[in-house]
Amino acid sequence: MTAATAQTEPATGPGLRIDTARLGYDGRVVSDDLTFTVPEGEFTAVIGPNGCGKSTLLKALARTLRPMSGSVTLGGADVRSLRPKAVARRVAALPQHPVAPESLRVRDLVARGRHPYHSLLRQWMPGDAEIVEEAMAATGVTDQAGRLLSELSGGQRQRVWIAMVLAQRTDYVLLDEPTSFLDLAHQVELLRLCQDMRDDGRTVLAVLHDINQAARYASRLVVMHEGRIVREGTPEQVLDADLVTEVFGIDGLIGRDSQTGAPMVTVRETRVRS
Ligand SMILES: Nc1ncnc2c1ncn2[C@@H]1O[C@H](COP(=O)(O)OP(=O)(O)O)[C@@H](O)[C@H]1O
Ligand SMILES: [Mg+2]
Repeated sequence: MTAATAQTEPATGPGLRIDTARLGYDGRVVSDDLTFTVPEGEFTAVIGPNGCGKSTLLKALARTLRPMSGSVTLGGADVRSLRPKAVARRVAALPQHPVAPESLRVRDLVARGRHPYHSLLRQWMPGDAEIVEEAMAATGVTDQAGRLLSELSGGQRQRVWIAMVLAQRTDYVLLDEPTSFLDLAHQVELLRLCQDMRDDGRTVLAVLHDINQAARYASRLVVMHEGRIVREGTPEQVLDADLVTEVFGIDGLIGRDSQTGAPMVTVRETRVRS
């Protein structure tokens, strides 16, 4: 590899990492001194109460929010020094509130997942169409391929976005509350899809709202509270009654999922009041 390509292409080695970063908006700090390496080859769920900085962390990792200080690196290179398309070939991100032109059709949005692979020299190829069809099939939106996004329900639209992320074929997949808008069957389908991606050797980091789904489906948990990562590990290592009280402000009982043995939180009726 020449020195010139080393600066523009991320290394193929592992490592999506945020280092001693200060994150926030308009001078207001949300997270300070935040260091975190996305666990390689795992399906990690980020959990924590509203407003604790989960989306902010994901935006920084996805390069859509510039840290006030500190850095985000991919394969050891600062993502700011890499071309956006080069990053997009390795990291796909679905924001919490994605926006697309309403006049776009489903297949066209999913096809956008292939844009990072295109250039003046390399335009749309037959292989791209196959990948787009596969991605739509994986999220069950093939029947909607020709419809306008504006005609779809929230849940259908969410699945189209996920298809776009799949079509991007990246090593890292960052999803911010991907199960919102989905009915229970489609939530489970999506969580299994995340597990499948992990089984395929990809790295998934997803903000999940439901602690029990996170504990059941994810291989690792990252718990955030007031802008800090307060715990990280397997669901077994992470979830206990004290954590649930301190972070979520609920009096929780820790039981077991009867099928998988994963820790499961049930809420006692009395709230902890400060
Ligand atoms: N675009 C923004 N502009 C200003 N403040 C924001 C913006 N997005 C989030 N915040 C603030 O940053 C904090 C963390 O938000 P966020 O990362 O979205 O939390 P979470 O995803 O954990 O619910 C909150 O106080 C929120 O109000
Ligand atoms: Mg959020």
